[in-house]
Amino acid sequence: MPAIVVVGSQWGDEGKGKITDFLAQTADVIVRYQGGNNAGHSIAFAGKKFALHSIPSGIFDPSKLSIIANGVVLNPKAVLEELKYLQDNGVDTSGLRISDRAQVLFSFHKIIDGLQEEARGASKIGTTKNGIGPAYVDKFMRSGLRVADLLDKDYLAQRLTAIVEEKNLILTKLYGAEPLDAESLIEEYYGYGQQLKRYVMDTSYQIDKELRKGKKVLFEGAQGVMLDIDHGTYPYVTSSNPVGGGATIGAGVGPSKIQEVLGVCKAYCSRVGEGPFPTEQNNQIGDKIREIAHEYGVTTGRPRRIGWFDAVVMRHAVRVSGLTKLSVNCLDVFSGFETVKICVAYKLRGETIKYYPASLQDLYEAEPIYEELLGWSEDITGVTRLEDLPANALNYLKRLAELTGLEIATFAVGPERDATVVLKDLWEIASSEVIVNA
Ligand code: GDP
Ligand code: IMO
Ligand code: MG
Repeated sequence: MPAIVVVGSQWGDEGKGKITDFLAQTADVIVRYQGGNNAGHSIAFAGKKFALHSIPSGIFDPSKLSIIANGVVLNPKAVLEELKYLQDNGVDTSGLRISDRAQVLFSFHKIIDGLQEEARGASKIGTTKNGIGPAYVDKFMRSGLRVADLLDKDYLAQRLTAIVEEKNLILTKLYGAEPLDAESLIEEYYGYGQQLKRYVMDTSYQIDKELRKGKKVLFEGAQGVMLDIDHGTYPYVTSSNPVGGGATIGAGVGPSKIQEVLGVCKAYCSRVGEGPFPTEQNNQIGDKIREIAHEYGVTTGRPRRIGWFDAVVMRHAVRVSGLTKLSVNCLDVFSGFETVKICVAYKLRGETIKYYPASLQDLYEAEPIYEELLGWSEDITGVTRLEDLPANALNYLKRLAELTGLEIATFAVGPERDATVVLKDLWEIASSEVIVNA
């Protein structure tokens, strides 16, 4: 103990990887608990830049455990490639651990994701086409395989033969696609299992052991609250639970072990893929922010849709994710803006609403009600203390804190590790909240 969960509080890409990497410097264990290689987490330090997809953002320090937990859908081929990429760039990846209970994401999941998206036509979700949805479907259908199964060749062969038979019907009859060859898949995935087996263990047991030793555990969410399968803009969501509570199921720890849930957000919003986005600025403002902040997907390279900060979304995130503190990234992006806007409520068919509606139709019709604040002209990329911010930037941060009801733990003025300014020592706070008998 203690444990902190880092969660995205918008539509993903809030800078979770950067904040995780930052907090990981003083953590002992870093755990990815859901999603898969749909995530793209960028990290920059010491003049180097990395993009991580499945491997936790704590991997840069081999003295720490970096755990891919049971809630993740793990593409073994992609993980091996990511390991190679890290090793080729001088990273000692020996701290990696992989849950024996993580679901395996197979190449056919990726194929099916692509075919399903194509079949959806104009109503496509805009997935990353990495097979995330189909892999979680198989998990919940109880027809998936887990990492432990890759290590048992007979069981793998028996199950994969049956799975491939069913997938081939779907591929050939439904989509007119090429059938799969079970034999070569068995060899391929058994081979991946052999390459990964040195990392495989019961990670829930290990996390519990570390917590009992008093170690600091950091849970790294992927995606964001608005992409959550239960609490996001369904069906324009991902297939897992990025919310804070997802960490308990996705890593096999009880909720009583977690003290702090840090909501990461940007000073504005972004979204990749389809679906409602009430504060979207599909105009020069959005283009300007996209270019200043290089808002292009880390995983797919797609331009991100941009919008003003949405306090309605944030309050939804505070509630469904149980956020206790806030990390605000990308404050530097607004330097040079005469004014900046914050959405404080929506107007829906003549009525003012302060909650995020479930109905897609309501969301498409909802018009943001904005508050306009004065911007600032100063370059703030070198700021290291709150008191050095221009008055209007400080004002903006204060307003975000007021509207979300959260204390700001960090704000950031650049993508680099040292561009994060700490206002609250989260480990100290979390340590003071530990329930000894939990
Ligand atoms: P994640 O998926 O939540 O880890 O976020 P991504 O890495 O996908 O996207 C965040 C983007 O914002 C990356 O390009 C980061 O380098 C960048 N970024 C993060 N924090 C800041 C910041 O404070 N200022 C600026 N200008 N860029 C930032
Ligand atoms: P990180 O962890 C932003 C989006 C996709 C699509 C929807 C479903 O980097 O914040 P999926 O492939 O998961 O079935 O796609 O979710 N999406 C993300 N958007 N950041 C991510 O991860 C995302 N992961 C998935 O664009 O709209
Ligand atoms: Mg990302």
